[in-house]
Order: sequence, then structure tokens, then C-alpha cells
Amino acid sequence: MRGWQEVYDGGSPEAERQIFLDLAEKMLEIQESNRIKAGKDHHDRTLHSKMVVGVAQASLIVDAEIPAPFRVLHFQPGAALPVAVRFSNASAIPQSDAMPDMRGAALKIMLDGGDVHDLLLTSFPVSHARNARQFVDFAMLAQGPRETFLPRLASRFGEAEAARMINNIQQAARPCASFALERFWSRGAILWDTMPVRFELRPMSTAASHETIDAGPDALRHEFTARLKSGSVSFRLAVQPFVDEASTPIEDAGIEWREDVSAPVEIATLNIPAQDLDEADAKARAAQIDAMAFNPWNAPAPFRPLGNLNRVRGVVYAASSQRWQQRGHSKG
Ligand code: HEM
Repeated sequence: MRGWQEVYDGGSPEAERQIFLDLAEKMLEIQESNRIKAGKDHHDRTLHSKMVVGVAQASLIVDAEIPAPFRVLHFQPGAALPVAVRFSNASAIPQSDAMPDMRGAALKIMLDGGDVHDLLLTSFPVSHARNARQFVDFAMLAQGPRETFLPRLASRFGEAEAARMINNIQQAARPCASFALERFWSRGAILWDTMPVRFELRPMSTAASHETIDAGPDALRHEFTARLKSGSVSFRLAVQPFVDEASTPIEDAGIEWREDVSAPVEIATLNIPAQDLDEADAKARAAQIDAMAFNPWNAPAPFRPLGNLNRVRGVVYAASSQRWQQRGHSKG
């Protein structure tokens, strides 16, 4: 496939990598400052710190009829791939599930030979940041005083761009009734052999959110637990192929790939089987999942992440997880 290209910040992959290392340093400063604010003796993930649900025994069942262009490596008709799932709140600092927030879904597909393929998604289709610099600058400015955030944002990005970002964040951060009812999007593109795609998870559950006795800070965990006790939870995995640079850009993650431009093609089902998440074994497996580092760059080469916003994530996630994974060796 032709008509798409990657454009490196600074003019080359090497120059861009240097820029990314500086941005990763800034994200580490945020991680450290949040550790201090939370009064902890260990670091959490810099974002998506609170795992709401972790399930080890999920599977991705590839459609028997998966269209030929999407049959790449393990995505073969009828394949049943073991998957670990970590559902999270996007907030940097763990907070009550009742707070408006964006939600995350991280999938780790277990492949033969110990390889993995991670798919990361959030509950809003388009990023507030067009690129890595915007993402990190926004995150840095958000650390400052709330009252002056808007003017600082406007002076950094200009009025129109600041308004676009705020509007995006306000729509993305909402209350959630159930993770089983959420739709999740990759927001950035990845390669699918020779074709760039964005991907999404579409909920198959239709039952309204389960009544739970405990509506406290972990209400979403209790809701999902109640739901899984009575039946499985499934999502359809769909991919949206690249069309052209104007309507489905690779380097600008602030532009939505509209469905009337590129219709999503469903190719597989993520199935989380009925189980009791309150059992000791399930809790132990959930703790193992929370200890796993997810990274869009944990992917076989034919599924390489594309675009500046996605390229930075390799460096930033590795730096963040290197810190929080040390917590296993400390008291926390
Ligand atoms: C393109 C859209 C993006 C999506 C869909 C996305 C999604 C996610 C998800 C689902 C997680 C949780 C992973 C887990 O459960 O362990 C996560 C974590 C994280 N994200 Fe993103 N993200 C995006 C862009 C970015 C960007 C541009 C940055 C920074 C430059 C960033 C920084 C982080 C960090 C630091 C973590 C914590 C990683 C760790 O410590 O293990 N994300 N993201």
C-alpha cells in the first residue's frame, strides 16, 4: 500500500529519539511529583495507575471469515489466542471509580515462544494531543495551579488549539457505568503488515450496569465482578484501514478517522469467560497482571506502531515501568 509516510520530528529517527528522551525525562518528573503528592514510597504508573479489573484467562478468537488482507501472523481464521486484560482509570493518581475519567483497556496477547502482542486502547476515539510534544507539554501544564491552567494552555498553544484540547478532554473524561459497556479506541495507528490501521474494541454486552451493594471507590470493579459471575463479557475487535493523509493521517493523532471515511472491519472477538474475580486464585492472577508492563511497542514487527505520538510511547512507557516495577523490591 502506498500514499502514507512517517515524518520524523527533527528530520531523522535519531534526532527524534533524542527529542523523545527529553520528553521521557519530563514524564518521569511528573511521575515523581505525583509520588510525592500521594505520599507514597514507591512510584505508580505515570498514567492509568489504578487497575480496575485484571483478568488472565481471556481469549481473542479470530473470525473464521477474517478478510484476507488482515490475516497477518497470529491473526489467522479461527485462531484462539490467550490474552491478559488490564482495565484501568486513566488518571495519574488512583481515585474513586465514580470520578469522571477516561478509561483504558490493555491487552497482552500471549504468542508461541513467549512473545507477546500488546494492544492498548482508551475510551475516546481521538487524542487531545496531535503529537508527543503536545502530549507532554499538556501533561506538564496540567501539573500547575488549576485556576491558571486555561490561560497557560492558551499562551503555550494559542487560543484555538487550547480550546480544541480542553473540549476533547472534557468529552473524554466522563462517568462510566460499566467497563463491559465501554467502547475503546487505539487513537494512534499501527502497521498491519503493509497497511496502517487504527483499531477498536466494541462492547457486545447489552445488559445495563449490574446493581452492586458497594457503590464506593471501587464500584466499577464490583460491577464487573457481579457481571462476570453470571456470564461472560465480550468485545468485537475492529480495524479501520488507512485511506489518505488528509482524512486518516498517520502523524496527527488529533484527527479522528471518521467511520464514513474508513468503515471499521470486525475481525475477532475478545472473550472474558464467566468467573469469580473474588476468589483467591483470580485475585493472585489479577495482581500478576497489574505487575505486567504493557507497551504498544511489545508487538511483532508487522504490527509496528506508527506516528509521532505512538513512536514516543516506546521510550516513555519503558522509562515509567522501569520505575514502578521496582516497587516489588521495596516495601510498597
Ligand atoms: C495514542 C493514544 C494512547 C492510548 C490509546 C494510550 C493508552 C494507554 C493505556 C491503556 C495505558 C495503561 C496500560 C496498562 O494498563 O498498563 C497507558 C499507560 C500509559 N500511557 Fe498511554 N496511551 C496513549 C498515548 C500516550 C502518550 C502519547 C503518552 C506519553 C507521551 C502516554 C503515556 C503513558 C504512560 C507513561 C503510561 C504508563 C505506562 C507504565 O508505566 O507502564 N500515553 N496508556
